[in-house]
Amino acid sequence: MITLSEPPRLVRPTTAVRTSYLTGEQADCLLRGTDTDWLGPASEDFDAFVAARDHDKERWDVMSTVYWYVSEEHYLGTLVVRHTLTPELAVDGGHIGYHVVAPWRRQGHATRMLELGLERAREHGVSRALLTCVPSNEPSRRVIEKNGGALDEQLGNELRFWIG
Ligand SMILES: CC(C)(COP(=O)(O)OP(=O)(O)OC[C@H]1O[C@@H](n2cnc3c(N)ncnc32)[C@H](O)[C@@H]1OP(=O)(O)O)[C@@H](O)C(=O)NCCC(=O)NCCS
Repeated sequence: MITLSEPPRLVRPTTAVRTSYLTGEQADCLLRGTDTDWLGPASEDFDAFVAARDHDKERWDVMSTVYWYVSEEHYLGTLVVRHTLTPELAVDGGHIGYHVVAPWRRQGHATRMLELGLERAREHGVSRALLTCVPSNEPSRRVIEKNGGALDEQLGNELRFWIG
């Protein structure tokens, strides 16, 4: 495994991790069999790609902040804080969404990234955070529970957890 000389931090999207972001996300998409088309424009104009994400913005009909989990030149994953909930997000999505790209999984990064993300969420006024995941997503459930997530109920396909 690659040794990180600096503990990863949650930062606003930055052009400083261009190569590792693009290769990490591409590896992740190929592993999951998801769409890779968006990587073309992102690689052609990474400055514009970052500029569209480096500030608070309305997404999913609520204000949201995107963070990247970064150690020096290494991009490890993304965490999104939604400042409020809609009825839809209250069932599926919650306040915080995240992923760690495939090369960095199973090394405790998501667990630590969510811990830091909860601090950021509090700065955005989210003192009690809702997190959701499908029952089959055991890794995500572990990440939520290790951060103090208390299971509320299953609504639709999603398990709902509250932290705080
Ligand atoms: C879920 C996800 C963020 C976990 O990232 P990660 O960095 O691998 O997580 P961690 O290393 O912090 O591991 C957390 C726990 O899950 C376990 N785990 C991780 N991947 C696992 C796997 N594939 N199978 C079984 N357990 C797994 C770890 O062993 C750890 O458990 P432990 O502390 O009891 O040993 C990552 O798999 C991912 O990005 N998945 C796709 C996107 C996603 O599902 N996001 C969440 C949507 S709700």
